Amino acid sequence: MTEIRTPRLLLRRWLDDDLVPLSEIHADPVVMRRVGDGSPRSLEQTAEDIEAWEEEWDEEGFGVFAVELLGSGELAGAVGLSVADAPAEIAGQVAISWRLGRVFWGQGYASEAAQATLEFAVQDRGLDRVVAVCRTGDRASANVLDKLGMQREGATGHPDHDLAVHGIDLTQYQ
Ligand SMILES: CC(C)(COP(=O)(O)OP(=O)(O)OC[C@H]1O[C@@H](n2cnc3c(N)ncnc32)[C@H](O)[C@@H]1OP(=O)(O)O)[C@@H](O)C(=O)NCCC(=O)NCCS
Repeated sequence: MTEIRTPRLLLRRWLDDDLVPLSEIHADPVVMRRVGDGSPRSLEQTAEDIEAWEEEWDEEGFGVFAVELLGSGELAGAVGLSVADAPAEIAGQVAISWRLGRVFWGQGYASEAAQATLEFAVQDRGLDRVVAVCRTGDRASANVLDKLGMQREGATGHPDHDLAVHGIDLTQYQ
């Protein structure tokens, strides 16, 4: 079972007990306004998300991690890798993404989890490149991307918002 410990976090695969806390995070419209179609997600949709992430873990050997706080054991959110299906500019490439419950914001957890995810991508899975998209106005994600050293490579339009495309060459990752 794939697990990563950082100074404050346990990144691990998904357990049945994660469904309710993740669905509570997914029910918060402020968390979800820049995720997917921008709508909160129901318990049933959250179960589908976890199932899809677990399938990706089984098929690809990487996926989206459950992010647990060491110590309290609380589920803080989801950070990890998936093969992007959209937008077209990054379709088929491995993308990193993040979402945390609002009470966990602003404490460096997303950066800590994302950095460990990039190390996992290159050291454990031998990936040489990871991409990310960031919506215009998403200062928090832009700051995480900066801290990771992910460079802006271009932009793409969407009917509702503009997306910046970022990437990192992991062969150079320190
Ligand atoms: C994006 C998100 C994961 C960031 O999580 P986080 O744990 O708060 O991020 P970090 O604390 O690691 O922040 C990284 C840097 O950005 C800064 N930052 C965090 N939130 C910020 C905000 N709203 N505005 C400006 N800067 C912000 C932090 O201060 C930190 O910089 P510093 O280390 O120089 O102080 C979190 O805000 C979130 O879950 N948002 C909702 C989901 C989402 O929109 N995901 C992205 C689209 S898929």
